[in-house]
Amino acid sequence: MAQSNDALWGGRFATGPADAMAALSKSTHFDWRLALYDLRGTAAHIKDLNQAGLLTDEELAVLDKAVKELAKRVETGSFKPRAEEEDVHAALERGLIEIAGNEAGAKVRAGRSRNDQIATLIRLYMLDAADALESWLLDYIDALSSKAEEYMGVSMAGRTHLQHAQPILLSHHLAAHAWPQVRNLQRIEDFRKRAKKSPYGSAALAGNSFGMDVDMIAQELGFSSTTENSLDATSSRDLVAEFSFILSLVAIDLSRFAEEIIAWATLDFGYLRLSDEFSTGSSMMPQKKNPDVAELARGKSGRIIGNLTGLLATLKALPLAYNRDLQEDKEPLFDSVDSLALLMPAFIGMVRTMEFDRSRLEATATDGYSLATDVAEWLVKQGVAFREAHEITGQLVQFCEQKGAGLQELSDEEYQGISRHLKPEIRKVLTLSSSIESKTGPGGTSSKQVIEQLVQLRKLTGKGKK
Ligand code: ARG
Repeated sequence: MAQSNDALWGGRFATGPADAMAALSKSTHFDWRLALYDLRGTAAHIKDLNQAGLLTDEELAVLDKAVKELAKRVETGSFKPRAEEEDVHAALERGLIEIAGNEAGAKVRAGRSRNDQIATLIRLYMLDAADALESWLLDYIDALSSKAEEYMGVSMAGRTHLQHAQPILLSHHLAAHAWPQVRNLQRIEDFRKRAKKSPYGSAALAGNSFGMDVDMIAQELGFSSTTENSLDATSSRDLVAEFSFILSLVAIDLSRFAEEIIAWATLDFGYLRLSDEFSTGSSMMPQKKNPDVAELARGKSGRIIGNLTGLLATLKALPLAYNRDLQEDKEPLFDSVDSLALLMPAFIGMVRTMEFDRSRLEATATDGYSLATDVAEWLVKQGVAFREAHEITGQLVQFCEQKGAGLQELSDEEYQGISRHLKPEIRKVLTLSSSIESKTGPGGTSSKQVIEQLVQLRKLTGKGKK
């Protein structure tokens, strides 16, 4: 392929790149989505060049108009990169020269490099993606909180190792899926502090020599300050890895609930029904209703984790400063953001429209002798050492299992036969509500504590009860 006359380099080359070289090098097909960020950078950069005496006021005026016009053309799609253009920067420089003319247009590249440009653009992109992610997360936490409020008071089996463990409130379980996402919101907030530093002016690696006011550019672009080291600023992508990690955690946390939803929607569990809007059918089996949103959440979390680990491998052992390997940071990042952009609205919709089977949840809440711990704790309150209380309760469970009876179904004599400590009053603690309401410690499953955490969630999301 002949090197385009508009290419950003070529003076020292006798020939243009081979077709295979150009094809490998090209990033326009994926970095074009950064075009408007690049133009925002250019708008600030030309002001700075003018202040530094490198552009006349007239040239600035011509270029400023041209940048605005080009941005409009990019937005409407009337300006597009050419097939032979290497990257977003090359295409936009050509576009600017087409509108502003070569005299002013050819001066714009002074004092900047694609290296500090791309490092800036990726931060701007992530800061916007962070805003979008934040609003999906708030919406999701709101959906969970609303469901928890709707089903307040409904009990279910709490599980460890997926086995019945102790009864809990369904609302407690739903809220438990909100808290990891609250921490992801905090991670985003913390990430922003580091991402809000502008690499502009770091140039190719060593910084610029024109005395440019990089603080002004940083401010124009919405950053709060500038980076401290031009080598680091142009060659580090730890922020991309950090943001990809947050995206991975969001997906992993969704996948954990997704796994439960898939199980809970089966006939065997029978805990919930998904709405028709957020389920799919089978092409062969007419009766099927499948939880595909949850399955895709589980599937996409794998893909998003893969994007993160691929990026980490790319970054490992890269020497200072910029290396072309860094071009590989964008596709995985974009893919993770795009995947969540598809997934989150569907997942939120699925949660908002799911219906629980209250009687099924309650009927199975005490299966598997899940009140046994309440017996042991009652014994402790009667003065029995926990070790002994555990042993006695274990024997009670064994007896009931052999008899095929529930813990509360034995006669006074049978209780006494197992241990003199098992007084008839034990039956009082052997109810679902007494078990749940006894967990009054902070963060516990009693309704008072669960209502308290829902109030906290509402405060965090700033949304009132719907
Ligand atoms: N397309 C490049 C990237 O994404 C932009 C920087 C290119 N710099 C260079 N020296 N070739 O990283």
